[in-house]
Amino acid sequence: MTPDFPYRPVLEKTVQHALEYLDALDTTSVDATATKEELRKRLYRPLSDSGVDSVQIIDELVKDTQGGLLGSAGSRFYAWVIGGSVPAALAADWLTSTWDQNSGLYACSPAEAIIEEVCGEWLKELLGIPKTASFALVTGCQMSHFTCLGAARHHLLAAHGWNVENKGLFGAPPIRIITGERHGTLDRAIRMLGLGLDSITPLPVNQSGQLEPETLAGALEKYKAQPCIVALQAGDINTGSFDDFTKLIPVAHTYKAWVHIDGAFGLWVRPSSIHGHLMNGAELADSWSTDGHKWLNVPYDSGYAFVAHPDSHRASLSHRASYLTHDDQARDQMEWNPEWSRRGRGIATYAAIRQLGRAGIAEMIDRNCRCAKEIVLGIGALPGAQIMHVPTINQGMVRFLDSSPNATDEQHSQRTDKVVEAINRLGDAFFTGTTWQGKRCMRISVCNWQTDDADVARTVESAKRALTLA
Ligand SMILES: Cc1ncc(COP(=O)(O)O)c(C=O)c1O
Repeated sequence: MTPDFPYRPVLEKTVQHALEYLDALDTTSVDATATKEELRKRLYRPLSDSGVDSVQIIDELVKDTQGGLLGSAGSRFYAWVIGGSVPAALAADWLTSTWDQNSGLYACSPAEAIIEEVCGEWLKELLGIPKTASFALVTGCQMSHFTCLGAARHHLLAAHGWNVENKGLFGAPPIRIITGERHGTLDRAIRMLGLGLDSITPLPVNQSGQLEPETLAGALEKYKAQPCIVALQAGDINTGSFDDFTKLIPVAHTYKAWVHIDGAFGLWVRPSSIHGHLMNGAELADSWSTDGHKWLNVPYDSGYAFVAHPDSHRASLSHRASYLTHDDQARDQMEWNPEWSRRGRGIATYAAIRQLGRAGIAEMIDRNCRCAKEIVLGIGALPGAQIMHVPTINQGMVRFLDSSPNATDEQHSQRTDKVVEAINRLGDAFFTGTTWQGKRCMRISVCNWQTDDADVARTVESAKRALTLA
């Protein structure tokens, strides 16, 4: 190594900063404390003509972002659906950038291509997806929906004698998408694929947020002349509820519909002996979407798509060019992915699965679900709090009631938002709101590998204090 090896000072400094950051997560505010103005003032520098020393850049980056980062890597972050990173996955992610492989083709990085092959097989085994399914490691669940529904579009239109890749959608038989509860990423995938939001038929769901088989059958009967996609849910964003796959998928298949499951976090209950039954029948679907950056706890940029019809998956995305080096004996990722050049995101997934193992994943899932329930019950028992949904898995909701006599729903909503703000301001825990069944609620979403009983106690205590301040 040459004495002026340029990477050493900056990487050593970065390790130090990273360790200091992670070590302080337990004692610094989970909420951001810097204002927009402060962050803009610090980060907007004039574009310089000359370059800057790399150590100085990293030091300043750390200083300038202070108070502008959320503690989402830590154990008391309960907003949206956000996982942290297990140590091996974080380290592997650093190596991913260090190795800087283009993971579009086997020829660009043989080791990364094989790692992805292994990840695909491990993930299918963990999530109970048939071994024969094809897969792609994409940026997140959003692009997973795009990949899966792109395969569905190919498959359904080919069955109607229409080659969508060549002819496009003008003049194609219109595809109908039938759903119960759904996440907005499904709508965006439908928009990007040119199917149009007007193609969606949203159906009413029961008290548990599930689509009923009779309701589904009625809609499929109505649209039986059209190619149909049925989009089901494994884990609703607010309640964590699962559709009943055992009942619904056979109904959809009677009508030759394609069944897609959005399991951004829910698919991960499969290895759990307590919650795994919620996934019963999911193996019958035609495609599945999930994330690594949520419940597997790998760093961001990690979603997974699985398709039960590999030929349709490949036909919808495959592209070859003479300047590329294709390998028919290996897996060229761009044959299955919407991206061309891309990062070797399989490396962090590989490391996370190895660190946790099947039992470790199941333990984390069960612990997170238990903690979610205890937080809901603990906060729900505080004066003026009302439990809206006790978690069946890791998602729950409470709201906070305005104590004035004859308070309206509007006042309860305002009180709820105020209490959420007050909890976040205290800095021990971080939550966000949602509107569920017309009522403003605070969501409790537990996805971090580190969250434990001590976090639950600290969170409930902090909420108790916040109630006196709001
Ligand atoms: C059920 C569901 N589907 C899809 C998504 C989107 O996932 P991503 O942000 O990885 O695209 C989310 C995110 O919270 C989700 O909860």
